[in-house]
Amino acid sequence: MAKQIKIFDTTLRDGEQSPGCSMNLQEKIQMAKQLELLKVDVIEAGFAIASPGDFTSVKEIAKHIKHCTVASLARALPKDIDAAWEAIKYAKSPRIHTFIATSPIHMKYKLQMEPEEVLENAVNIVKYAKKYCEDIEFSAEDATRSNPEFLAMLFDKVIKAGATVINIPDTVGYTTPDEYYHFIKTIREKSSQLDKVDISVHCHNDLGMAVANTLAAQKAGATQFECTVNGIGERAGNAALEEIVMAMHTRKDVLGLYCNIDTTQIVRTSKLLSTITGVQVQPNKAIVGTNAFAHESGIHQHGVLQERTTYEIMTPESIGLSQNKMVLGKHSGKHAFEDRLKILGYELSKEELSKAFEQFKELADKKKSIYDKDIEAIVTRNTIVYPE
Ligand code: KIV
Ligand code: ZN
Repeated sequence: MAKQIKIFDTTLRDGEQSPGCSMNLQEKIQMAKQLELLKVDVIEAGFAIASPGDFTSVKEIAKHIKHCTVASLARALPKDIDAAWEAIKYAKSPRIHTFIATSPIHMKYKLQMEPEEVLENAVNIVKYAKKYCEDIEFSAEDATRSNPEFLAMLFDKVIKAGATVINIPDTVGYTTPDEYYHFIKTIREKSSQLDKVDISVHCHNDLGMAVANTLAAQKAGATQFECTVNGIGERAGNAALEEIVMAMHTRKDVLGLYCNIDTTQIVRTSKLLSTITGVQVQPNKAIVGTNAFAHESGIHQHGVLQERTTYEIMTPESIGLSQNKMVLGKHSGKHAFEDRLKILGYELSKEELSKAFEQFKELADKKKSIYDKDIEAIVTRNTIVYPE
């Protein structure tokens, strides 16, 4: 039986913390509406206390969104919780997301608190937030560099205080898939309460393992994945939503997971974010890069033209693309060249085709990209014999 995973999107909060990715009010509302179409379960709309602009955008998103839970981040401080609630109270399904750091390094240098104080703060803040809102997510910042016994004890107490979701973030992208799996499993074994709530994972990509770590965590009991569109976020970014979702979709056979996401909205969501922020994804980015469904070499192009599944594990349509892309370049073969000629409306004789293909190869050796207009020029200039 496949297991359902909730998708918690933090593009508008952690994603926006990425340099160059800040968005204005209208852009955030537009993005939130697109996330609703994508059918994420939770939209983290922002960090209400961070600035007046953030407060307004969380509040407006809370008013506009009808089919997703809307969350605001808040430190473990009453004034943060007050601001978060003031902004999200308009939501149909509001969530307060509060956090405090739990690793020795963060407690000592950032918070300058003893573990007992962190514990007391965590419990008190969840009780405080619970006065306003039923749905409370608690995050142990820098969890993967924290002591698992301490975390299990702290989680039990915050769950008893009212937390409904416990997040175990890999804040600095430090863990590995196997280690993360064992870490969460150990905490679960030591905790008496964790199985009563949703377990969330939130992975950063500092070592390029955010998606792998996220997927590994589900085997240890995670039921909510936190991620961002195009993987934007602090430093090397967060786990990319589109990669997580398409891995679940394409490898349901081994992962045994499903979620609510409408995968055909993936390209549109990715493009909207790039247009708004001006930050383009790299061409070879999995799923949404411009090359993710492009084939250039003759062997691959021939294979795909014969049978798509030879070199495509997903259909372009499944993510909302109309078709794959045959890129004509120096590695392309005659089959792809002939196919493009047909699309452009040319039927050449065998002899004309050979001549045109020869000239195409000569040009491809000199030029990085061959466009349709280059092919048209080759055909009209050299091969078409007009009647006298
Ligand atoms: O990376 C992190 O730990 C966070 C928390 C605030 C959830 O973004
Ligand atoms: Zn984060």
